Amino acid sequence: MYSGKTYKILLAIEESSISHNAIEYAFDLCSRLKDPYILSIIYVIALNPETSVPFLHNLDKANNLDILLDAKETVGKIRDYLKTYDHNYPNVQYDFIEHESHGTVGEILTEYISLQQPNLLIIGSRNLEGLQKVLSFHKEITPPKEGEGVKINFVTREGDKKTIVANVGDSIMDITQSHDIDLECACEGSLACSTCHVIVEPKYYEKLEEPTDEENDMLDLAFGLTETSRLGCQIVMRKDLDGITVTIPSATRNVKLEEMKLS
Ligand code: FES
Repeated sequence: MYSGKTYKILLAIEESSISHNAIEYAFDLCSRLKDPYILSIIYVIALNPETSVPFLHNLDKANNLDILLDAKETVGKIRDYLKTYDHNYPNVQYDFIEHESHGTVGEILTEYISLQQPNLLIIGSRNLEGLQKVLSFHKEITPPKEGEGVKINFVTREGDKKTIVANVGDSIMDITQSHDIDLECACEGSLACSTCHVIVEPKYYEKLEEPTDEENDMLDLAFGLTETSRLGCQIVMRKDLDGITVTIPSATRNVKLEEMKLS
């Protein structure tokens, strides 16, 4: 049955196989929609001035990368990829938007969504969990019910010990942020920094799932990397991690880079 309503569909993508799946999903959906729709495909170009993510700013300078040049290449690939869909779904109309702004991808997208108010948001990202956290859908951290919590011990930058009872499913980033434990998390879990670097007690490190390539890339940039280093935003509490101890290093890479005045 037709409702006659025009649906605003927003598809946020990067250049990854997950995005390709999301594009396929959106085109297939639109090709079958009987109601009118407006499909917008957005690729966010996140400029990171010193004030928003100093780490990335420094990283760029250090590696002589240029965010915009990099983005241009990615946009070219995406446009080429979309041509396949122009061919396979000739009736599906869409706008491709390159949205350039300062901040993290999550912040920029959140602002865009609040302005556009889409009826349906499709996110094609390798790091959906991280992105969800910054899309203002912050999971409320509520104290666990009696007997259901898992213990996590922190050794803070100052060397103090602090034990928190958290919920299964909370990430170390969530836990530190809701308990005022100093762990920077500059990119808010979108795997674009290493400021959430933590050192995991070996016994528990073994229990964690292998880090993804993206996490390893960021870990390589962490200051004071150890054999049991991980990114706190990527560790999600499970029952078998009950009792884990994580140490927050006394310095993070961005501080170090600033001190080194890399150009
Ligand atoms: S907060 Fe940036 S990678 Fe974890």
